[in-house]
Amino acid sequence: MSAPGNRIEVMHGVNLDQLGRRDPLLYGTLTLDELEQRIDADARALGLATRFFRTNHEGRFVERLHALRGPPTQADAILLNPGAWTHYAWAIRDALEIAGLPALEIHLSDVQNREPWRRVSVIGELCFATISGRGPDGYRDALALLRDELEHPDGHRRGPA
Ligand code: DQA
Repeated sequence: MSAPGNRIEVMHGVNLDQLGRRDPLLYGTLTLDELEQRIDADARALGLATRFFRTNHEGRFVERLHALRGPPTQADAILLNPGAWTHYAWAIRDALEIAGLPALEIHLSDVQNREPWRRVSVIGELCFATISGRGPDGYRDALALLRDELEHPDGHRRGPA
């Protein structure tokens, strides 16, 4: 892992490992491996270092968040797409609060314009920005915002993405 200051933990939650088999109109055609390769290349171009974590198990997602806090702290910021957990998993919300790192919520699909239950995010209040509906390009935008946040921390307040 690179020097502290630019380490982004990219976390994918439940069912994201099924990308490539899910509705391409909503989620595109990339597999999660392909998406992560793209994220890694975009991150390098921005001078960021990525580490990827994926799981279908909520407890593992929570424990990863606990581990990030350390000591020693294992990341400088978090980019997370928890999948459907976003909408109801309060334990993930609490673990993200415990992690205490700048965080950005991301979704491939436009969750605000799908079923009403997807409009709810239990993690949104802890993230300084949310990006949704931009597909894989959204991750590049998210990385640029994360780099700005790491260079000019503003207390991780929410702002327009
Ligand atoms: C998702 C949106 C969620 O509502 C859904 O449950 C997912 C993927 C997205 O990236 O668009 O699994 O997080």
